[in-house]
Amino acid sequence: MVKVPSVKLNNGVEMPGLGFGTFLSKPNEVAEAVKHAIDIGYRYIDTAFFYANEHEVGLAIKEKIASGVVKREDIFVTTKLWCIHYDPSRVEYGCRKSLENLGLDYIDLYLIHFPVGFAYVDDSTFIPKEEGAQFVTTNDYDCVDIWKAMEQLVKKGLVRSIGISNFNAEQVERVLKNCEIKPVVNQVECHVELNQKKLREFCKERDIVIIAYCPLGRHNAEAKKPAFLYDERTKAIAKKYNKTPAQVAIRFCLDLGTIPIPKSVTNSRIEENFQVFDFQLTPEDMKVLEDLNAGIRVCYFSMIDKSHKYYPFKAEF
Ligand SMILES: NC(=O)c1ccc[n+]([C@@H]2O[C@H](COP(=O)([O-])OP(=O)(O)OC[C@H]3O[C@@H](n4cnc5c(N)ncnc54)[C@H](OP(=O)(O)O)[C@@H]3O)[C@@H](O)[C@H]2O)c1
Repeated sequence: MVKVPSVKLNNGVEMPGLGFGTFLSKPNEVAEAVKHAIDIGYRYIDTAFFYANEHEVGLAIKEKIASGVVKREDIFVTTKLWCIHYDPSRVEYGCRKSLENLGLDYIDLYLIHFPVGFAYVDDSTFIPKEEGAQFVTTNDYDCVDIWKAMEQLVKKGLVRSIGISNFNAEQVERVLKNCEIKPVVNQVECHVELNQKKLREFCKERDIVIIAYCPLGRHNAEAKKPAFLYDERTKAIAKKYNKTPAQVAIRFCLDLGTIPIPKSVTNSRIEENFQVFDFQLTPEDMKVLEDLNAGIRVCYFSMIDKSHKYYPFKAEF
């Protein structure tokens, strides 16, 4: 079995350099997908409280531990604090909810999911809206205050590493300037059409690893999107290596120095997306793919009013 090369985080922890995404993987299909992923060699599983599938993800992991396929320490579980749990006094509660859902004693990597907080109604109201409102009801929790509560989770042994997600450079810097424990990663959308050059460079200089979400641009076969998977230039590179455009897209993220986390609930694609360690893109291939950058974002959290002071994507990077 191919062993995924690991990436060393700024706290010394080694993290697998390829992960398995589970957003929009339905509870009835995600467990089978995660079990298959573990069987073929994925060791980093990415979930979130918001995905409402932590329970099934946890069951699948525990089944693979119980049957001796892996040990707990072989699996790197990442989950995320959702925006309704950003009141600093509620952060530990949010973390404990995820631990309970997963049925695990600790989380390997725990992320602040997005820099904008939502009002808390109850644990099942993920996107609270006031009657007739167009956008989600937000709260102005400062990321520094949320971060300080995240640091306590490390001290209590509930989580091994902490990080952020969807933070722009200014927000990353604010956390760095006010932290005791540095974020190890920033998980952001990153793929051929949104290659995040500036944010990647900014984070690299600060020893923060980029986890590339939507590495396949959230492929939609019906809509034939994203365009880069159908582009003749991507297809030509794929043909050269006897690979698929999806494998080239994942390899592109690896060769950028990010950790891609493709999602699939289809066994053949779960396997395909893992077969990316037997080729490498040349600088010329990378240049062709970098030229396809169009700044097109798939995941812009449309439920949030873009004028919110902490909405991250107003900034250039
Ligand atoms: N932190 C955040 O805010 C955030 C936001 C978004 C995503 N994420 C994480 O990143 C992960 C990946 O992002 P994503 O799920 O949005 O998008 P993605 O991985 O870019 O794309 C997933 C889509 O591509 C299809 N697909 C998978 N492998 C394929 C292949 N080899 N060929 C063709 N199509 C293929 C999947 O279909 P099937 O499943 O039907 O096979 C699914 O429709 C998420 O699952 C989640 O864990 C994090």
